[in-house]
Amino acid sequence: MHFLAICGSLRAHSFNRLLLRCAEEVVLHQGWSIDWCDLGALPLYSEDLEATALPESVQRYKAQFKRADALLIATPEYNHSISAALKNAIEWATRKGNNLDGKAVAVMGTSGGFAGTARAQAHLNQILVHVGAYPLPRPVIQLPFAKQHFNTEGRLINEQTRSLIEKQVIALGVWANRLNPVSVL
Ligand SMILES: Cc1cc2nc3c(=O)[nH]c(=O)nc-3n(C[C@H](O)[C@H](O)[C@H](O)COP(=O)(O)O)c2cc1C
Repeated sequence: MHFLAICGSLRAHSFNRLLLRCAEEVVLHQGWSIDWCDLGALPLYSEDLEATALPESVQRYKAQFKRADALLIATPEYNHSISAALKNAIEWATRKGNNLDGKAVAVMGTSGGFAGTARAQAHLNQILVHVGAYPLPRPVIQLPFAKQHFNTEGRLINEQTRSLIEKQVIALGVWANRLNPVSVL
């Protein structure tokens, strides 16, 4: 089982990236593998850019999608929605071959406010379904008041949160395998 980690925040000390780091530990512990997307390397999507040869960064990114059995997305909440970086990455993934079609996806997120990315995740799920991806319905991971969840080393403080992420990663593996039984758990 091979995963692709996508962090919707470009911030160097992103709390959402820390959630994905925790998910990565689970993935590796299961004997699975994981690759990371660099959304900051992608140009802003334009139909003009895709009219000729795709930029190299986009080609690399789309190849990462093709190799992945499942996607792990951590989204911040920006103005009650997903970040522009994440939306831009989705545009690229769906052009010149829709790399999201049929893909198993798990979404997690943490934000500074009380809603814990609930509004961003609602938007993201709507987009994912539209592009033919299969968002994992449960467990939901929406953590409010982001910085309260991490210690100074950037590790999750609460064992229950860590366990929730573990459950989600394992459920995503099962979900991906159910959608595409060729994958080996
Ligand atoms: C442009 C912008 C808009 C934001 N809008 C929201 C919001 O609508 N709801 C919320 O809870 N937090 C909002 N925040 C705060 C983010 O949730 C917070 O900065 C969070 O830590 C970002 O995720 P990151 O740590 O992964 O970068 C916003 C932050 C930025 C920079």
